[in-house]
Amino acid sequence: IRGHVLFFQELSKDIYSTIRKHQYNGRTPRFRRIRGYTELYTSDTVMNNPKFVKAAIIKQEEAYNDKIYYFFREENPDWPKNAAAPRNVSRVAQLCKGDRGGTGSLSAAKWTTFLKSTLLCVDSDNDRHFNQLQDVFILESANWSETRIYGLFWNEWEYSAVCVYSVGDISKVFRTSPLKDYHEKLPPVRPGQCLEGEQQTPHETFKVADSHPEVARRVKQEDILFYSKHRYQQIGVHRAPAADGGTYSILYLATGTVKAAPCLASLPFGIIQPFLSPAGVRTMTLDSERKELFVASESEVVQLPMAMCGAYKDSCESCILARDPDCGWINGRCTSIVTVAPGTRYYLNCSIKSHHATYTWLRDNQTVAHCGPGHRHCIHFIDNMTDELYGTYSCVSQEDWFNQTLVTECLTKPSNVKMLLEEPRNKMAKDWATQTSLSLWLGLLHMAAVVLLTH
Ligand SMILES: *[C@@H]1O[C@H](CO)[C@@H](O)[C@H](O)[C@H]1NC(C)=O
Ligand SMILES: *[C@@H]1O[C@H](CO)[C@@H](O)[C@H](O)[C@H]1NC(C)=O
Ligand SMILES: *[C@@H]1O[C@H](CO)[C@@H](O)[C@H](O)[C@H]1NC(C)=O
Ligand SMILES: *[C@@H]1O[C@H](CO)[C@@H](O)[C@H](O)[C@H]1NC(C)=O
Ligand SMILES: *[C@@H]1O[C@H](CO)[C@@H](O)[C@H](O)[C@H]1NC(C)=O
Ligand SMILES: *[C@@H]1O[C@H](CO)[C@@H](O)[C@H](O)[C@H]1NC(C)=O
Repeated sequence: IRGHVLFFQELSKDIYSTIRKHQYNGRTPRFRRIRGYTELYTSDTVMNNPKFVKAAIIKQEEAYNDKIYYFFREENPDWPKNAAAPRNVSRVAQLCKGDRGGTGSLSAAKWTTFLKSTLLCVDSDNDRHFNQLQDVFILESANWSETRIYGLFWNEWEYSAVCVYSVGDISKVFRTSPLKDYHEKLPPVRPGQCLEGEQQTPHETFKVADSHPEVARRVKQEDILFYSKHRYQQIGVHRAPAADGGTYSILYLATGTVKAAPCLASLPFGIIQPFLSPAGVRTMTLDSERKELFVASESEVVQLPMAMCGAYKDSCESCILARDPDCGWINGRCTSIVTVAPGTRYYLNCSIKSHHATYTWLRDNQTVAHCGPGHRHCIHFIDNMTDELYGTYSCVSQEDWFNQTLVTECLTKPSNVKMLLEEPRNKMAKDWATQTSLSLWLGLLHMAAVVLLTH
């Protein structure tokens, strides 16, 4: 099957899909709930040949008000009537997660809370419009209205741009905007309104929403972060505390290779080609908890540590500019910084590339371990981390008077030692991860689909 299951929610066992299903008019793309309270599908009149991009559940204070937002492109209904209108538009659609269908026989199996709005990504300085949404990354926040949507867009000149939206702004547009081309009085139950107590949507509300699914107001970006003359295909965002106490968002943008760029710098840098064979990135997912980036092409899935310091091209300037809290400029190299709590064990591993070489582990240029020829790995164990053992460790190979530094790791004391030692915090972090990493699941599923397609 070409297509993919968009996402599922673990807790309620709901499954949503955009796979075209032959039994139900397989030619028309629909957003469907295929498992949950009742099966529902979008009315065929509310979208024009859509290409789905991503979806997310946004929980609100009251469960009946929980929303599904999904992002897509579609053919613009205003084109070609209005010659100045773009041919395709990017949209955000809103549905009530608890939608029970309508009371009429025509609407019983349809989403009755669907509304859509245009997502604008415009650089107002030079009036450049980016109309083609390519990918979306959702950075969740404890307060739903502060959750941020990062949209990666293209324009017709093959430029890319990243625009950021807040869910609070999107929600407000749907709550307050009039419906496009609808000038009569609204029914008592407003189109798009979520109903308490598992009620079905009244027929008159469905009729209005189904014939006027678009709201008049468009969703404007809160910020345009960046544009570039590369055609990026995928976006990931990692928000991290920086060494200076601030917070930085690091964007990961993928073409065939992955680029890491700090949010506010004008130039991307740090290029990673993750695949064995040259290939485009099909999907990219961040696991902020485990600090790993998963990247998939048509045929490979690769897991990368987010501290991809080596990718900053070993220039001091880019290493520092990157402001990646996991990296630092040490002894002429962009180096991975590892925090190790006092009293814990740690080991340093240097894998052996030549059986004729000797390998030495140095701490601040002093030898701490030596491995002669014949070892498979040169490992230096630290049984009990103490203050004097912190420092910069490097593994140097020597063969025929040629020395090469293979690994550099900077071991530092965590700034808040308590946090690392306390067991309950880890548990909390895990619970948090299972509850809120929907966008991770989404990406993994998508990735699983890509892998299935090729095997
Ligand atoms: C958008 O426009 C292009 C042609 O410019 C077309 O190939 C594509 O299918 C259109 N539709 C969507 C949903 O992107
Ligand atoms: C959530 O964030 C919004 C927007 O910043 C703010 O107005 C609101 O008071 C916050 N709600 C809570 C419960 O903190
Ligand atoms: C590690 O060293 C510290 C300081 O010398 C000591 O107090 C602690 O008991 C040691 N821990 C272990 C597991 O040996
Ligand atoms: C050391 O690294 C090598 C190569 O990456 C790996 O095969 C080996 O399992 C590692 N050893 C340990 C103890 O982690
Ligand atoms: C280790 O040696 C390098 C190069 O010789 C030097 O730049 C660096 O300062 C030394 N580091 C320490 C901690 O002595
Ligand atoms: C190479 O390393 C060895 C010990 O690790 C040291 O004795 C020697 O001076 C180094 N050679 C160079 C050229 O740095």
